[in-house]
Amino acid sequence: MACTLNQFCADANAILKAQPLAAALPKVAERLSELLLNHEFVAATFTDDMPPGRRELFHDPELDFYVLAHVQEGGKIGKPHSHGASWAIYGNAKNLTEMTEYRRINPESEDNVVLEPASKYALRPGQTRAYGPGVIHSTAHPDKAWVIRVTGTDLDKLPRFHLRKQDRVLEKA
Ligand SMILES: [Fe+2]
Repeated sequence: MACTLNQFCADANAILKAQPLAAALPKVAERLSELLLNHEFVAATFTDDMPPGRRELFHDPELDFYVLAHVQEGGKIGKPHSHGASWAIYGNAKNLTEMTEYRRINPESEDNVVLEPASKYALRPGQTRAYGPGVIHSTAHPDKAWVIRVTGTDLDKLPRFHLRKQDRVLEKA
């Protein structure tokens, strides 16, 4: 049977309570893939005329994770950022997210941050990826995309890395 939003939220709660984060996140990401492949869920969550923005679909009062639905505008390229001490799982419901993960190549003791891309890949419908605390990444959406993001907490309340004027990204061929 197709995975519903309610089932996904209950399973995510159970998985996150049962095992350490590093083991739990890929399993929650797998369940999110199943939810994204449920056409009824996608049709109930997104419509073609929905404007860009984000909506909260669920908040777990016990563990504090959120399930968010994002309509991403086409032609947008995001800047490198982390989710601080939180984790996040990204998955696509329509079109694709171009994801880049970065590594820092200068010492932590230096004020400015120098990054280089560590890996680049696309997340297409039904594909998900989990990001543990502190992972620096950026997203790009060549076309309007429907994205579900699960976050460990309310990211707006967390100190986290955003690229600043003094920081640099070295592009690798
Ligand atoms: Fe992010």
